[in-house]
Amino acid sequence: MKTYQMYVDGKFCDAASGKTFNVFDPATEEVIATCPAGEAADVARAVAAAKRAFYGGWRGTSAQERGRILLRLAERIRARRDELARIETLNSGKPIVESEYDMDDSATCFEYYGGLATKINGEVIQVPANAVVMAVKEPMGVAGQIIPWNYPLAMAAWKLGPALAAGCTVVIKPAEQTPLSLLDLARDFEAIGLPPGVVNVVTGMGPECGGPIVAHPDVRKIAFTGSAEVGKIIMRSAADQLKRVSLELGGKSPNIFFSDADFEAAVDGALFGVFINQGEVCSAGSRVLVQQDIYKRFVDACAAKAKTIKVGPGIERETKMGPLVSAEQRDRVRRYQEIGKREAKVAAGGGAPKGKGWYVEPTIFYDVDNSATIAQEEIFGPVMSVIPFKDEAHALEIANATPYGLAAAVWTRDIFKAFRVVKGLEAGIVWVNHMQPTMLEAPWGGYKMSGFGRELGHWGVEEYLETKQIYINLDEAPIGWY
Ligand code: NAI
Ligand code: MG
Repeated sequence: MKTYQMYVDGKFCDAASGKTFNVFDPATEEVIATCPAGEAADVARAVAAAKRAFYGGWRGTSAQERGRILLRLAERIRARRDELARIETLNSGKPIVESEYDMDDSATCFEYYGGLATKINGEVIQVPANAVVMAVKEPMGVAGQIIPWNYPLAMAAWKLGPALAAGCTVVIKPAEQTPLSLLDLARDFEAIGLPPGVVNVVTGMGPECGGPIVAHPDVRKIAFTGSAEVGKIIMRSAADQLKRVSLELGGKSPNIFFSDADFEAAVDGALFGVFINQGEVCSAGSRVLVQQDIYKRFVDACAAKAKTIKVGPGIERETKMGPLVSAEQRDRVRRYQEIGKREAKVAAGGGAPKGKGWYVEPTIFYDVDNSATIAQEEIFGPVMSVIPFKDEAHALEIANATPYGLAAAVWTRDIFKAFRVVKGLEAGIVWVNHMQPTMLEAPWGGYKMSGFGRELGHWGVEEYLETKQIYINLDEAPIGWY
């Protein structure tokens, strides 16, 4: 059992109230750590530190220096990769191989933004006046960042990298289920040269600790990844100060298989699309749309393969699927499994293994109607809903019949068909003959109720920048109006 503290103004500290909460290992259901239960008073202290750091120096730091700090942060993650991956797996449940990948991804993300820091440029604009007009980019100020539990360190990296590159200072709250990897990384913040107050990590519950970050008048921008339900709460609260908001909120992404796709690759892609990270993925291909002529064979092949997936403690290297992050999430997925049994047919799984750990079986429902609850609501677990379709138009109609629009994938050997379908899909990320590869250089975000704003690439840094127009008059004579 470890006792963790928050990181505020360059120091590790407890909550003002002295309250703590427990952090669990999802594979054993045991408490592995406690963290401070931060509330409004702690958030106020963190925001004050971030504000001092912003006006006291960080916004004036050269882009080169900010970039170098981000590169050093990446180096630390690479040096501590195995240790951080182990913490990530113990805390989130995910397979160790996936945690190692996430650590590499987090390091690469900081490297990307370390390099990008020196490429944030403005523009000089042609105008019909004797003047030089420029548009320059400036950091927004203090950014509030609220992180989910499915990719704890990677989601923190996706948000910290662009904010720091832009010149913002940050108050960041990891999810209460998975605060450990970020708090562990914070031990290196001083050594890499991050001045006190530039990054403050506060821990606590959503409404009690996340709420005050969103409501604080000195926080200029909120970046959130999580449920649509909380996204709406955040947007309402931010509206009071017309605060900038970017939201990345899950989905019900279609993974579309035409009968001319490579069959083996398609089956593999359907499973990977929804079972990776136990299905706790915002872009999970949870609706698998299969063309009628391969439908039955496809369902059988997926089911046969799903039954061989090795479910177990994430820390064991052979594990392909770990436990879900929390008892709450396990119960949620179990409820959907029961709903699914009433709405459709079961091809694989449908239950949970006996014994300790918040596990559920990789589950495949087929003959699912797109209007069914399991086809419309985000489950966020290893549950696939297979839906048959007739032709291209039918596939598109089903694919877009969802309030969400985060991601989609289409599998076919016909390049013309692929592009027609890509054009018709209402989704922020579309893959062809793959599902889930995430390129840090490319924009990530949703259409419709999957949120707005884009993370990653140069789009990510724009979310932390204001644009200032500067007009410099070159006419020395008076204006001559009066
Ligand atoms: P959540 O949306 O409640 O939690 C995500 C983050 O928001 C956490 O850091 C939490 O502390 C914070 N939060 C919660 N309420 C808040 C509030 N009122 N003000 C400010 N911050 C708040 O997600 P939860 O309850 O853990 O999971 C429920 C469902 O949300 C999942 O089953 C899944 O469908 C979806 N989800 C989607 C994610 C994504 O990647 N898009 C990530 C996590 C959850
Ligand atoms: Mg919640």
